[in-house]
Order: sequence, then structure tokens, then C-alpha cells
Amino acid sequence: MTMNQPPIPATYTGADESLLVQRIYARKKEFGKKLLILAHHYQAEAVFQCADVAGDSLLLAREAAEATDAEWIVFCGVHFMAESADILTPDSKAVFLPHLDAGCPMADMATVEEVSAAWDEMGAFCAMETVIPVTYVNSSAAIKAFVGKHGGSVCTSSNAERVLAWALNKGEKMFFFPDEHLGRNSALALGVDPTQIILWKRGQVLGGNAKEDVEQARVILWDGYCEVHMEFDPVQIAAFREEFPEGKVIVHPESRYSAVSKADAYGSTEAIIKAVAESPEGSVWAVGTEVNLVKRLQLHHPGKTIKLLAPASCQCKFCKTMQLVTPAALLWLLDNLAEGRMVNQITVPEDIACDARLSLARMLET
Ligand code: 13P
Ligand code: SF4
Repeated sequence: MTMNQPPIPATYTGADESLLVQRIYARKKEFGKKLLILAHHYQAEAVFQCADVAGDSLLLAREAAEATDAEWIVFCGVHFMAESADILTPDSKAVFLPHLDAGCPMADMATVEEVSAAWDEMGAFCAMETVIPVTYVNSSAAIKAFVGKHGGSVCTSSNAERVLAWALNKGEKMFFFPDEHLGRNSALALGVDPTQIILWKRGQVLGGNAKEDVEQARVILWDGYCEVHMEFDPVQIAAFREEFPEGKVIVHPESRYSAVSKADAYGSTEAIIKAVAESPEGSVWAVGTEVNLVKRLQLHHPGKTIKLLAPASCQCKFCKTMQLVTPAALLWLLDNLAEGRMVNQITVPEDIACDARLSLARMLET
């Protein structure tokens, strides 16, 4: 998803970070309750500290839906999060993304055209009223609308098992997109037989499956993935356990099953924060998720040893698109709003929003 971010002047991008943060605070004071800044846990510290509320995707979606005073909701996160906020809020509220190129590469791995084509292919021999579509919240508004129209639900990493249980109870099959790994981890946790889980590979006839495989499947997984979480593996976990036999491993469920099955626990960003916070002083953790969250855990828990689950040489684990939301981009947006210019507003057309609202509402009710 590329939306063409307008250039941010060098007076912002070249400015000292602490000065930018001071000016953001001044704008927050000026706007008062009219402005609500939401930040996802993967935001870097400089932006994160400017937020009114921080959370995982579910918490932030609820927060946007319940925001009563704010007229402007600024989402320090990625595009699908701002879209969900716009869908869940009345027209009187405007939602903004500080950098328009901040998309989620995994969400882009399932377009509504591809998913509709796959649905139609299956429909040639499956009773589609018994197939329940479920989309991870990391997906476009158009995908959420498709799911809403076909009786399905959105899920996040914190309620995936609950939503999948609902879908499997409601229908004979579940079609899950875009994250193969969240889908597989949740289905296996619910006790689905691994032989009844198949992968739908993009660009292949019947997703690369025989007709009989699709017919016998309970769970059909789209082959999308998060490149940050794909990097965690059982070898890193074994190396950590050798060095810290008393240590605990927790990973995000976008990680592969081979890593999730070797971890002590897995969960959403909010669940990871809770598990570390509730552990006794002196605990040792390896955390498999985006590095900004791991750094923040280290900062907030100096009495605990918290390691990023990665080889020492690895400088990866950044969600590159999340990092486009910088203090410069945030201040540039707030200054524009102060001048009456509604730049970077995220608006989902009402015909898409009304169907997408159905799938989001099903999730919020489940
Ligand atoms: P959470 O909902 O767990 O915060 O995850 C969102 C996300 O994009 C993780 O990669
Ligand atoms: Fe998307 Fe992965 Fe970044 Fe989350 S961490 S926003 S899934 S690319």
C-alpha cells in the first residue's frame, strides 16, 4: 500500500528530536481534548511518549470506537489501524496517519481481488454458505468489507482463538487471511487436526491444492506473513535456553509454529507486556517480537533480564513501516491541522465501511 506521502520539509526532518517532541507537547496543550493520539507498541520511544493511549490492535480499535471528546484521532501506527479507527468512529471525527506510506506489508499480501477470486474458485465445488471467512485485523478495509458481507469476522492477535472457535462452530470450514502463522497457531491451539489445515498459495490454481484437499479441509490459510516475526526460530530458542536454563521465552503469534511450539508462552503485544510485568524481579526473558517493544520492556524492568530473541549479530526485527511515523512526521501533521489543513486524513468510503463495520462488530462482540 503506497499512498504518496507529501514531502515533509527539512525544517522538520532535520530538527533535533527533543525539540520536535517539545513542540508536539505544545500542540497537544493547545488542542486539548479535541486531539487524541493513539500509538501502537511498536512505535519508537520518541513518538510513543507523545501518545495519550498506547496499546495493541484490539485495545486501540476499542479506544477509537469509544473516544467521545476527540474530534481528531491521530494514529501512530500503520494504515490498517487508522482505517479501522475511521470505520468505528462517527463522521464527526477525523482520523489521521502521520505518514501515508506507513502500511503493513503483510496486510498488502491479500488484496480483495485475490481473495474474491479464491472464494469464487472454491465456490465452484464447495457450499460457500458453510465457509466462514475470518480476517486478521492487519488487512485492508476492502477485505474487512468482503468478510462482513460473507458472514465472517475480524480477529486480532489477542482474540484469534476465540474468533476462530466461533467461526469453526458456525461453519464447516474457515478461510483465514492474510497471516498463515496466526491462523495455524490458533487452529492448532484449538485442537484442529493438522491434516485438515491447508495452505492457499497466492497465484496458483486452487491455491496449489487438489480439489479433494480443499473439500476435506477445516481450515484454509492464506500464505501471508510478517517478515519481522518470520525470523524467530527454534534454533534461537534452544541457544537462549542453553545460556539461560531458568529463562522463559515468549513470542508473538505471527511467528511460525516451529517457534511458538518451543516457546513457554505466546500472545499479542499487550499479552507480552503483561507476562513480563507480572514475572518476579530477577526473571530472565527472551522476547520474540518487534525490537522497539523489547527495548521498552528493558527500560521499564531494569531488575529483569530481557533479551530480544535473535542472534547477537542481528540488527533486524524493526517493523520498517511503523518507523516512518517519526516525531517530524507527527509534528508536521499537527502543525498542518493547526493551520486548518486536513492533511493525511484516512477516510474509508461509506459503501466499504458499512460492510467492514459488520466484521469488526462481530469481533468486538465475540
Ligand atoms: P498486536 O495486536 O499484538 O499489537 O499486533 C499487531 C501487529 O501488527 C503485530 O505485528
Ligand atoms: Fe505488519 Fe509485521 Fe509490521 Fe505488524 S510488525 S505492522 S504485521 S509488518
